[in-house]
Amino acid sequence: MSEEMNLLTHEELCFFKEYGYLLKRKAVNLDLCVKVLDRMWETAPASVKREDPASWKTVPKDEESRDPLLIIQGTRWQFRGASTEKDLIELIFCRQLVTWAEQLLGEGTLRQPKIGGKPMGSWGPAWPNGPVDPQLGEGARGIYATLPSDRTIAPTPDRLHTDGHPFHLGVVCLLDDGPRNGGSFKIWPGSHKRFYPLFPMQYDQARIPYYEHMPSHKGLIHPPAYVEEVTKVEADTEPVECYGEAGDIVFWHHRLGHMAGHNYAEPNTIRQAVLYDFCKTDLDAMRLDPPQEDMWRDWGDELRAASSVISKQFAAEQRLPIAMAEGLEATPS
Ligand SMILES: [Fe+2]
Repeated sequence: MSEEMNLLTHEELCFFKEYGYLLKRKAVNLDLCVKVLDRMWETAPASVKREDPASWKTVPKDEESRDPLLIIQGTRWQFRGASTEKDLIELIFCRQLVTWAEQLLGEGTLRQPKIGGKPMGSWGPAWPNGPVDPQLGEGARGIYATLPSDRTIAPTPDRLHTDGHPFHLGVVCLLDDGPRNGGSFKIWPGSHKRFYPLFPMQYDQARIPYYEHMPSHKGLIHPPAYVEEVTKVEADTEPVECYGEAGDIVFWHHRLGHMAGHNYAEPNTIRQAVLYDFCKTDLDAMRLDPPQEDMWRDWGDELRAASSVISKQFAAEQRLPIAMAEGLEATPS
């Protein structure tokens, strides 16, 4: 019964440290992907038919849902109500992913999700008209789908953000195959090292409260140095698209710049993925510390110790932009 778990190599650990992400193919149980997808489709808006790709488009206004447990708006369809269900937890908190996450964060340090616990969204938005706080939830973030954008409207430029809630390690797991330009998670490689020092706290982003009689300011406050760096990263770094096949995942560092990609692929496709945040049990004790000289202080010994040469070939497999891979070794060491 005890199945040998595959381990991340030193090169993979080094790549994650250097660029803040790691793609792994065919990482999770595909039967569970199908089950979770079926569950997702139980919440489909009336006009979106699973068997009819022509119906996959921007959801009409009268089919929108503002319920934080099921957001349906425009091309966005986020089902959070299932985020503590057994199939979903077993998919994303499976032994293989936990083994890898523990190599990154330290063995026996991960907070466990709770099957049947309260899903993200149960507490409503973090502030009026604001987003839901993913730290308020006992399971995954949920199942997130991106429907095709209207191709007659030009795409808006890519804009990155970093997440405002405290956590350690994000994972996005594809439930179905999807092509490039099909709404995949997009990340800006290496930006975790640039953004990490720019906040007063290591994990959180500062927030101010909302007052009804002073409604102009609420929510996250971005330090000016961070806002400047966002513009620089957007200008000097080419993002990496995390498209792929069902069961593929990407791990990403909590300060990595990212966005939900726009879905302009042809023929029509729906990006369907599960998002989960790995957190360490001692996040509560660490979150108020300022950024550290050693940004890996709180991470696992294996990741901290990892040092090896990253080959050009491996960087290409990870879709690292060519400009960033220039200084790397041509062959594996
Ligand atoms: Fe985000």
